[in-house]
Amino acid sequence: MTDTNASRPQPAFPKASDLSLEEKASLTSGGDAWHLQGIESKGVPGYMITDGPHGLRKTEEKTGAVDLNESVPATCFPPAAGMASSWNPQLVEEVGRAMGQECIQEQVAVILGPGVNIKRNPLGGRCFEFWSEDPFLAGHEAVGIVSGVQSQGVGTSLKHFAVNNQETDRLRISARVSQRALREIYLPAFEYIVKTAQPWTVMCAYNQINGVHASQDHWLLTDVLRKEWGFTGIVMSDWGADHDRVASLNAGLNLEMPPSYTDDRVVSAARDGSLPVDQLDSMAQGMIDLAAKAAPAMSRTDYRYSVDEHRDVARRAARESAVLLKNEGALLPLDPNGTVAVIGEFARTPRYQGGGSSHITPTAVSSFLDAAGERGAKVDFAPGFTLDDEPQDESLTSQAVESARKAKSVLLFLGLPEQEESEGADRTNLDLPAKQLDLLKAVSAVNPHVAVVLSNGSVVSIAPWRDQAQAILEGWLLGQDGGRALADLIYGDYSPSGKLAQTIPMDLADDPTMLNWPGEEGHVDYGEGVYVGYRYYDSFHKPVAYPFGFGLSYASFELSDVHVTARQGNTATVSVRVTNTSDRDAAETVQVYVAPGKAKVARPSHELKAFRKVFLKAGESQEISIDLDERAFAYWSETHAGWRIEAGDYGVEVGTSSRDIAATVTISLPGDGKRLPLTEWSTMDEWREDPVGGPIMERMEALGRSGELPELPIDNASAAIFLASMPINSLFVLMGGNGSKLTNYLLDNYAQATHAA
Ligand code: BGC
Repeated sequence: MTDTNASRPQPAFPKASDLSLEEKASLTSGGDAWHLQGIESKGVPGYMITDGPHGLRKTEEKTGAVDLNESVPATCFPPAAGMASSWNPQLVEEVGRAMGQECIQEQVAVILGPGVNIKRNPLGGRCFEFWSEDPFLAGHEAVGIVSGVQSQGVGTSLKHFAVNNQETDRLRISARVSQRALREIYLPAFEYIVKTAQPWTVMCAYNQINGVHASQDHWLLTDVLRKEWGFTGIVMSDWGADHDRVASLNAGLNLEMPPSYTDDRVVSAARDGSLPVDQLDSMAQGMIDLAAKAAPAMSRTDYRYSVDEHRDVARRAARESAVLLKNEGALLPLDPNGTVAVIGEFARTPRYQGGGSSHITPTAVSSFLDAAGERGAKVDFAPGFTLDDEPQDESLTSQAVESARKAKSVLLFLGLPEQEESEGADRTNLDLPAKQLDLLKAVSAVNPHVAVVLSNGSVVSIAPWRDQAQAILEGWLLGQDGGRALADLIYGDYSPSGKLAQTIPMDLADDPTMLNWPGEEGHVDYGEGVYVGYRYYDSFHKPVAYPFGFGLSYASFELSDVHVTARQGNTATVSVRVTNTSDRDAAETVQVYVAPGKAKVARPSHELKAFRKVFLKAGESQEISIDLDERAFAYWSETHAGWRIEAGDYGVEVGTSSRDIAATVTISLPGDGKRLPLTEWSTMDEWREDPVGGPIMERMEALGRSGELPELPIDNASAAIFLASMPINSLFVLMGGNGSKLTNYLLDNYAQATHAA
């Protein structure tokens, strides 16, 4: 990186309240598809903002058109589908720093990413751009992009806020989702990143949430994002997601992108009071503040990043993104001196990113074949199939089978061709193209030592064919240097260390969201609630092909000495010793899941609440300590409209995947003590369990036994069952007028007790 031009002193920026209504309105809309609207006469620059998210996609010229594929060369880092499997936030941050540097060179003030929407269903067309089915993992990894980019003085745009989990009808669909699922599944990645890294901007989603367009959702953009989480940056619309500028500005949207040229509506709304001028000032001020923040980095016009250094970052990132799913008889790594049959067009023409707005023009691309050639490895290549939708060319099959027959082992590159996965459309099945699977069958029939290397952005079905492969390396989409990274792993310079950020199901039909996918008549019901991904599979003991968090290594590890200590305030500390029991250096990822005991709401059997990737030399051992905060034990209570921690036992599980738990320690927590006031609608059991209501109930029962009050029919077993769940205002149903007397007794005494308190 060459820093030839440190930032220059910056001019003073105007205050929004000193501008005319027209000027303020203009700031809240883009200058064109990829620029902010500046006000030259007042010294506000109209900086460029552009995609994102795994590298810079800067259109060649200043143009109003949305041109997705013509962009200046930039490093194409692994898309989130790959990076998410690294479970390495420090590495993600390094990628972020490199992206920020490329933005400075290209004079881009804000890069549009990361996209932290939950992979609700593996068919989701943008799963390759999103991080995980788990919000904790998504937030704790993607935060590195935000902190890395912003450490360079360039902004990020955390997107798509919120509940943008499918492409079908994406511009209009209403996601009907419970408050609890929102808080526990769909918002936490955003929340964590906003609270820890303050992205300069947030991009609202296209879709509606419970009938309200995200761009017009005051609750989302103002109450939650700004007031609850303390967001201080600006909110922009996704491209074309703002349908009513006045409603959006009122809701807390600072910027519509691209411009709809409707400033006049904003000005007249400010004049007629339907848009309070204070609100317009505040939205416009956000835009001025954004320009001011970007100004120092944008003044570094001579800055040049190091293309080679960034390529190396991309290679290291890719290396940690691949996940070894199967490796029978230690087929991998391959002997670098032996001849291997390399089959599959992907080995020569890698698929390393997805299609749509994230499409980057790489500075260079390495294929596996290039990389094998560079290291002098002996390979016999056969393309095996074409990447188009044409039927199989049988001569390609014969050639591949011949090559496989002669070789000691086979590397078979399979995957999803580009046209099968893109922004704008969901997939319709999880299958690899039939001609590729036929080829696998033919090849494995003549050579059992087949290692399949996969290229796909979202999950593909593996269970139906995995018996035909002795090894499987899931390469996802690995960015521009994926070929070299794969060679590093396949020839054993490094051990794979990726872990799945998404469950690989046995069958698509097992997915908990399939009953409600992709919705109908303009809405989609999130009927599975919080049971997304492994939260469902593990809670209901469903077989999966490969569980969340899973990934093999060439090394072997042992987790031991697991201790968990409950601490003040419903927190805990976990310590564990990780030992590399092999003779090669490698990394293992320790995962901590919390398993709530008995709870008042249905809770998944366990949820990821902490993780740590540990690099250990051969034979090395290290003790690590991880803190669990209050949130690790909490659920979102709709009746309390807040987080709740119940008193009781919690299992703390320490393992290497959601289904490989080395040890579980049970701790007891005091709970948060929160309770709702009792009312006539509280049940008898709720009264009994309440610290104020319980003693009143006991007194009432004693008075019943001594004849001073009517007696509850608790000796009658079936009446007792009825009573337990009965709101106290219904006691008359069982006891007639005597029931009403007891209702009044309870309410009067409670009022006195709470009044006195
Ligand atoms: C996508 C965003 C992207 C924007 C600008 C939209 O269609 O949803 O992710 O940042 O276009 O390209």
